[in-house]
Amino acid sequence: MMDPIHNSSIGVLDSGSGGLTIWQALTEQLPFESITYVGDHAYLPYGAKTTAFITKRVYGVISFLQRHGAKLIVIACNTATVAGIDKYRKMFPDIPIVGVVPVIKTATQQSRTKCFAILSTELTAKSAYQKNLIREYANGFQVFNLYSNILVPLIESGKTEGLTMEVELGRALAPIKDSRADIVVLGCTHFPFIRGVCTKILGDDIQVLDSSGAVGRQVRRILERNNMLSPSHGHVYTFYTTGDAIAMTRLFSRLLQKSAKVDKIEL
Ligand code: DGL
Repeated sequence: MMDPIHNSSIGVLDSGSGGLTIWQALTEQLPFESITYVGDHAYLPYGAKTTAFITKRVYGVISFLQRHGAKLIVIACNTATVAGIDKYRKMFPDIPIVGVVPVIKTATQQSRTKCFAILSTELTAKSAYQKNLIREYANGFQVFNLYSNILVPLIESGKTEGLTMEVELGRALAPIKDSRADIVVLGCTHFPFIRGVCTKILGDDIQVLDSSGAVGRQVRRILERNNMLSPSHGHVYTFYTTGDAIAMTRLFSRLLQKSAKVDKIEL
């Protein structure tokens, strides 16, 4: 008989729809894996909340995913990761938990000018966690630690391009204008959805990096190491929201450019 763990899913959570950028990388790198996604839209954005509030919400979502057979959890949200990744691991010791943080080390390896920016939410930018990462990996680099709390709600309202987004993103990136920065690291999983506007504002000479590829590789490594990879080709993708299921079905389908039915859950 087959070990049931092989057939269970990867649980992915975010404050909202941003974790879909991680979902996309997982489906590309691990096409045989089933994925259960939860967007905590009823309590979005996390970036302007307290860490106590966020960790409580995340406990609830991880419990839900565990009850629904998740074999590994991806906290597909930088804000939720810096708010309490160690606490989640302590609270749920029996399940591997992968967090998402900005790819600061990669930026230091690729920057020719020794100057780059990180764009995240306010909570992430101001967190001791992120400041420690900068201290640890980017010693000797000039780092612009930028944030915006407006971009996530704009993306959630479907405005991933257009004048409002250009103005708000331009405002958030203004400090690096005329600087030596040659890389912008996206420190929020929502932001790859506005990569096009980023490039429009910054030009082609500034590289934009996100964490999705690295997270996909890390999930694969953990599943391989623990002999937890799915042996079968049939995968199931399930999407849940604590918000409005109809609106999210529309938004997810638009962001993923394929039909994605989202069901409502109360948590
Ligand atoms: N996608 C989340 C992140 O990576 C957004 C957090 C929020 O809701 O503000 O930080």
